[in-house]
Amino acid sequence: MEKKQIVISYEEYKDISEMSSGDQELCHAAIDAMSGAYAPYSHFHVGAAVRLDNGTIVKGANQENAAFPSGLCAERTAMFSASANYPDKAMVSIAVAGGVMGRLAESPATPCGACRQVMAQYQTKGGHDMSVILIGDGRIQKFAKVDDILPLIFDSI
Ligand code: THU
Repeated sequence: MEKKQIVISYEEYKDISEMSSGDQELCHAAIDAMSGAYAPYSHFHVGAAVRLDNGTIVKGANQENAAFPSGLCAERTAMFSASANYPDKAMVSIAVAGGVMGRLAESPATPCGACRQVMAQYQTKGGHDMSVILIGDGRIQKFAKVDDILPLIFDSI
């Protein structure tokens, strides 16, 4: 038996202004997208913004439903919209922001497992690493690719 380790490295920023101009734009789009949240049950507003390889940004926000499982997270809302509207464009980055009643939380937003799996699928489909930016108030984490937030990705494609 051998003990092994999976090491994940990522970039951490104190402020969006420290990031590249493209990432700043994507972060602001994700924060802006929070206003599109429909969250009458959790009151947790999440915004996501996907950057396509042609530069286009597609936004999404969480949508809740009285039949709870029928709702959808912000990340999947954004990715499904991007794939449906730009089926031939690779998704190269996704930024996520969230907080109670639309106020950006201190801790960076962390995508649920289902959203991570969907990110993995579109990363593979696009044939391009998809960076993942998790935005908190005063702490922003940037992961170079989906594998970094979903080790041992299931991928049967
Ligand atoms: N939510 C997201 O939109 N993205 C995540 O990564 C985690 C959770 C939403 C789902 C639900 O509308 C609310 O946040 C509370 O879980």
